[in-house]
Amino acid sequence: MDLKSHRFISYFEPEQAAQLCKLAALENFPDGAVIFEEGEIPDFLYLVLRGQVTFSKRIGPERYQTVAVAWENDFFGEFGVLDGQPRSARAVAFKEAILAKIPRDKLMEILQNVKGSVVLNLFGYIIQHLRVTTEQYVNQIVHKEKMALVGEMVNTIMHDFKGPFTGIQLASSMLRDLHPDEETAEWCDLIQMQSQRMLAMADEVLEFARGTSILKKEPINLERLIQKFEKLNRIYFDSASVKFSTQVENVEIMADENKLLRVLQNLINNAVEAFENRGGRIELVVRAFEEWAEIKISDNGPGIPEAIWERLFEPFVTYGKRGGTGLGTAIAKSIIDAHGGEISFHSQSGEGTTFYIRLPLMKTVMPKNTQTDIRGELNSTGQVFA
Ligand SMILES: Nc1ncnc2c1ncn2[C@@H]1O[C@H](COP(=O)(O)OP(=O)(O)O)[C@@H](O)[C@H]1O
Ligand SMILES: [Mg+2]
Repeated sequence: MDLKSHRFISYFEPEQAAQLCKLAALENFPDGAVIFEEGEIPDFLYLVLRGQVTFSKRIGPERYQTVAVAWENDFFGEFGVLDGQPRSARAVAFKEAILAKIPRDKLMEILQNVKGSVVLNLFGYIIQHLRVTTEQYVNQIVHKEKMALVGEMVNTIMHDFKGPFTGIQLASSMLRDLHPDEETAEWCDLIQMQSQRMLAMADEVLEFARGTSILKKEPINLERLIQKFEKLNRIYFDSASVKFSTQVENVEIMADENKLLRVLQNLINNAVEAFENRGGRIELVVRAFEEWAEIKISDNGPGIPEAIWERLFEPFVTYGKRGGTGLGTAIAKSIIDAHGGEISFHSQSGEGTTFYIRLPLMKTVMPKNTQTDIRGELNSTGQVFA
């Protein structure tokens, strides 16, 4: 955008606006460039003409927490300019940014002589930003506390939880040895697989609460993966009177198999739960496109309540069910994000729900183990303080 039409300049009378435009120096900041550091003495006010700027506070050695983002037409650095105190956060260009820098001393001179209405405009903007940033900050803290609490809770129950499963696994393998016929072996395998999945689920929640996840990426044939998924769920579907059908193209992707199974399981559990024992149909379709594989999961259930459409993928968003954790779709999204994919849905009341997952096709060789924060970045508000 053009400097003259920037929001900050428009607060001033024409004469002062022209003066400010003259004083402002335009500077280009490439993606990732530090504009100022936390603790620095402020010497400029910055107007964003293009790109974005993120603000982060140091929370440990080499660790920063993003607290806000400034967009085109925002300005930042006004706190330091007004009270002369050190910068309260570090500012970094996100995508290439073009900023107009106005020197603090000159700006203060102009501000000494402005009309009350200019000051009121400025005040209004600053206060509104402060409110939103504070609210966002409090939400982040509450969110973190919740996550820590879940982590603690899961940690405590994990130990007791694992005990009985060791017993179940031992018993089923003994049963397999005592009755070496094919059918018993198959059922025992199923018991083993399912109890292992239960353990994996507990680990998954723990991982989510911790906020990190190691992706063990390897070449995955989606056809085989879906077959495995179907086998794991056969009894579950039968007992819930669910007709599960698939249509799968032969596609290979680089992915973490267990994590992908988790995504399918979370989404399909939701569909089955939505049927509320009345039974229903779930269809899973896998198709290959030029650059990605698409997994489409459709059900003919009641549809996702409109009240949670916007927040569905956020943690702890649950609706109309007893004992819902609200983590299923959040975990699914974080896993898909960590794979460089996308997840979205379409839902219509009374007609059903379709989830669309896109994952990059196997083309280039990717690192085998990638460390990713599966909770993703905390939301930014587009609000600024510095
Ligand atoms: N296929 C679906 N059909 C109907 N409602 C759904 C479906 N998938 C998700 N939902 C709704 O979205 C909510 C959030 O799902 P999720 O994140 O898995 O948490 P939880 O299942 O623990 O509530 C569910 O409580 C449910 O109301
Ligand atoms: Mg769920």
